[in-house]
Amino acid sequence: MRCIELGSDSNFIRTAKFESDPNSAEIDLKRTDYCGRVDRRYLDQTIALCGWVHRRRDHGGVIFIDLRDREGLVQIVCDPDRADTFAVGEKLRHEYCIAVTGRVRLRPAGSTNPNLVSGEIEVLAFEIEILNASVTPPFQLDDENLSETVRLTHRVLDLRRPEMQRNLLLRHRAASSARKYLDANGFVDVETPVLYKSTPEGAREFLVPSRMHHGSFYALPQSPQLFKQLLMIAGFDRYYQIVKCFRDEDMRADRQPEFTQIDVEMSFLDELEIRALMEGLVRAMFHDALGVVLPDPFPIMTFADAMRDYGSDKPDLRVPLKLAELTDLMKRVDFKVFRSAADLPGGRVAALCVPKGGELTRKEIDDYAAFVSIYGAKGLAYIKVNDNTKVNEEGLQSPIVKFLPADVLEVVLERTGAKSGDLIFFGAGREKVVNDALGALRAKVGHERGFVDSGWRPLWVVDFPMFEYDEDRKSWAARHHPFTAPKDGHEHLFGNEPSLALAKAYDVVLNGWEIGGGSVRIHKPDVQQKVFAALGITPEDQRRKFGFLLDALQYGAPPHGGIAFGLDRTVALMCGVESIRDVIAFPKTQRGQDLLIETPTPITEQQLRDLHIRVRASDAATTPA
Ligand code: AMO
Ligand code: AMP
Repeated sequence: MRCIELGSDSNFIRTAKFESDPNSAEIDLKRTDYCGRVDRRYLDQTIALCGWVHRRRDHGGVIFIDLRDREGLVQIVCDPDRADTFAVGEKLRHEYCIAVTGRVRLRPAGSTNPNLVSGEIEVLAFEIEILNASVTPPFQLDDENLSETVRLTHRVLDLRRPEMQRNLLLRHRAASSARKYLDANGFVDVETPVLYKSTPEGAREFLVPSRMHHGSFYALPQSPQLFKQLLMIAGFDRYYQIVKCFRDEDMRADRQPEFTQIDVEMSFLDELEIRALMEGLVRAMFHDALGVVLPDPFPIMTFADAMRDYGSDKPDLRVPLKLAELTDLMKRVDFKVFRSAADLPGGRVAALCVPKGGELTRKEIDDYAAFVSIYGAKGLAYIKVNDNTKVNEEGLQSPIVKFLPADVLEVVLERTGAKSGDLIFFGAGREKVVNDALGALRAKVGHERGFVDSGWRPLWVVDFPMFEYDEDRKSWAARHHPFTAPKDGHEHLFGNEPSLALAKAYDVVLNGWEIGGGSVRIHKPDVQQKVFAALGITPEDQRRKFGFLLDALQYGAPPHGGIAFGLDRTVALMCGVESIRDVIAFPKTQRGQDLLIETPTPITEQQLRDLHIRVRASDAATTPA
């Protein structure tokens, strides 16, 4: 420890208990407390602080330094009367790492800062030690307009910014809270392999070549799904792991190629019991990390209702707007756009009423039409409701009104609840396209036009379909994953009507984000084989890919189920940030790169040779050995 000459100053506090960790032992520290925590309690005492120079202001002979650490800022004053200290103060530049000893005093009247914990006080420096100088940083840490590229390239400095410090500390608190809750409920933390096996069913996998097994590969796990089921069969009863998962999929704001799940599995509990225990986990995390009390219990909505009313399986319930169903109604009109969609098997016609939408300009409407086209919508018909008592071209302004009989228009007004001054948007086409388009439009219009309630609106979405048709592969695919149990009595639907079979699967949705998903699992080998067969997996492939599961299920596998929460998404919501990159210390860019450490990189010819790999000439980018 650095020795400080204390002189006769008996008030100097050398032992400290760090407030962020009330359990920490009182130890002799170089620091009395974090900068961001120094307040009136330390008045007239001499304290020691460490941190980085956030700002330095020379006020005609007096130097002010904002000293920063992970908990915040404190103002240090260098008085010219203390010549040695002042001389060091003059040398300081942005991001110098320093240690300061000084006396806490009140700031002069008028110069307090109510936004800081330390805003009432300042520290008159007795001694400043430069622990390490810094070259000039490539940007000001308080610059709010930094590009993502700059931030990720200089991530170390970016992470020093107070906002990022706050995000990662909140993430830590959320993860600790999850551990605490799960530990208290008897869950056991078990690690599962990262070198897993390729089972190309879900998203694209990351592969790792095996040096010892020529031409063979491991795959990085998309989730520890089967290991956690095997642990239930092995009798561990309740498992959890805060675990990295890997998916080589296209990136968005809420997706990263490696992300973290709070992964949970439990035996002998049914769907309702699992959900009750797991929403308790979400409530605990929000309470402990954020001080927010979420509703108890969470509301529950079936998948079918969610799609019908919101066009989405992750509706943002803060937006009160709902879709109106019109498919049945449009079977009796001549207007081709609507009629053909209504008659199409798996077609849908639906409407979204925008309160006061009559104010929308032509340009705004065109922009919304362009927006829904991203989801495959062929157009965006609309009616401006000038007067909802006049069901004709006078009261209803729209190019399509003339194609719709008055009695149909009346039902449209009734079902959408449209009032004079509102605007009704229509979607017609394949159900998926209409739902995606109007579901996204609902959220967008809701946010842009101010129909968003504040607060937290968690929701369980339940009764998902077992299967969905994969147009690309021309076969049925598992909606959740192939290990999900069907609802009781739904097995017989697998053969002829797979689309009607429902699963014991559930998602947790919060403010429009899917933060978790899980299911009760199949625990009987014959049912598992039937599901594999329904997915078109041949008996040979079943053995080759999942033989270890089918074998294990034969040894008295207990009924079990579980869930995985996306930690990154949950914390991003807690922090109020748009992208999960802001709650991950070292994330990848949209193009899957880490700009700080610069990866991925080509490897040497020798490395490739050791792994028995040859890079195809057209995309070769290796460096010479
Ligand atoms: P699922 O695939 O639904 O379920 O994933 C669970 C949760 O993980 C989060 N998530 C992601 N977060 C960031 N980036 C991604 N690329 C990403 N993909 C998923 C989401 C999601 O709700 N094994 C099953 C769970 C189970 O059945 O127990 C599973 O992985 O928040
Ligand atoms: P059209 O007959 O193609 O000129 O379309 C008439 C109106 O219906 C226009 O306002 C289009 O934007 C709209 N429209 C066309 N196709 C669809 C669709 N699939 N869903 C909703 N509106 C549509």
